[in-house]
Amino acid sequence: SFSFNRRIARDVREIVSALERMLARKDALGLKELSGGGAALRDSRETTSLLEDSQVYGRNQEKEKLLKFLLSKEAEESSFRIGAIVGMGGIGKTTLAKTVFNDATVQEAFEVKAWVCVSDQFAIHRVTKSILDSITGHVSESTDLNVLQNRLRSELMNKKFLLVLDDVWNEDYHGWQKLQAPFSAGTSGSKIIVTTRKKNVADIMRANPIFSLEPLSDDDGWSLFSRHAFQGGNLMCNPCVEDIGRKIVRKCGCLPLAIKALGGLLGTRCNIEYWLEILHSSLWDLPHDNNNVMPALWLSYYYLPGHLKRCFSYCAVFPKDYKINRERLVLFWMAEKFLS
Ligand SMILES: Nc1ncnc2c1ncn2[C@@H]1O[C@H](COP(=O)(O)OP(=O)(O)O)[C@@H](O)[C@H]1O
Ligand SMILES: [Mg+2]
Repeated sequence: SFSFNRRIARDVREIVSALERMLARKDALGLKELSGGGAALRDSRETTSLLEDSQVYGRNQEKEKLLKFLLSKEAEESSFRIGAIVGMGGIGKTTLAKTVFNDATVQEAFEVKAWVCVSDQFAIHRVTKSILDSITGHVSESTDLNVLQNRLRSELMNKKFLLVLDDVWNEDYHGWQKLQAPFSAGTSGSKIIVTTRKKNVADIMRANPIFSLEPLSDDDGWSLFSRHAFQGGNLMCNPCVEDIGRKIVRKCGCLPLAIKALGGLLGTRCNIEYWLEILHSSLWDLPHDNNNVMPALWLSYYYLPGHLKRCFSYCAVFPKDYKINRERLVLFWMAEKFLS
């Protein structure tokens, strides 16, 4: 055991000196410590309620139902109600939530409004803090849950609030109960909208009503496709284009995310052979669970030229929902010599 101890001692010494070497280089490299242990990275996750693309196709009925729910008056005893938008990834839950959140009558009807991107990391601290920050408009310093909850409670006190929790995965009932504690301070008529892929999440949160989102209609799908494929006007005079395009939209299962990906891809190449090649690609037959979003995304990746493929795959180093800074991404690509 003597030699074992000596080996451990030697290893520890090596690790310590390696750390000291790194520490010495820290200043030279201009690295700075972040307070809150990586909080800066997490806090820059997408929390935006602005519509990236103002053109939303279809969804009029869904929007109307949601507005009716949001603007409905409640009996005095219930302080807030939860409605859920449920549907598979890329079907347009976030887009629909943004549309109603930004609706003028909704903006007027609620005293306090907050939009929080919850995503797959459900930490009560972070979500509570994001809600608070979104309401107050500045970043609160405290990390103590009790302090945060009390502050949030007083911000909501006797006010009619609207809260959107975007992309919730949490299926832990108790975590959700704990998060809710400050919400009861609001007045009746307050609403929470949750978007989630899992019906179970909506049930656990006791959401009622639940709005199940379906794919776009063929015509709305085609309009969305055209917008992305023919951005600079239709350069193809071939009458078959619409026919092929509509078939591709149907292969996408009329999922907006898939349609956008393929519209963007096909818009780069305006020749009919290429469109037919994509339409009849064997990649559509890849195994998938009842929707064509994976084949569609895979296709749009597969047909990228090689130098763009690696730029695209590089984005996998960022966490889910991370807001990627365009200029910084280009710098990263340059550092990897992707652009030379
Ligand atoms: N009705 C629509 N009209 C136009 N674009 C849409 C529509 N619904 C969704 N999109 C687009 O499709 C993509 C995926 O939509 P999103 O709302 O993020 O889906 P989800 O939140 O269900 O994963 C987004 O880029 C969005 O702009
Ligand atoms: Mg979403």
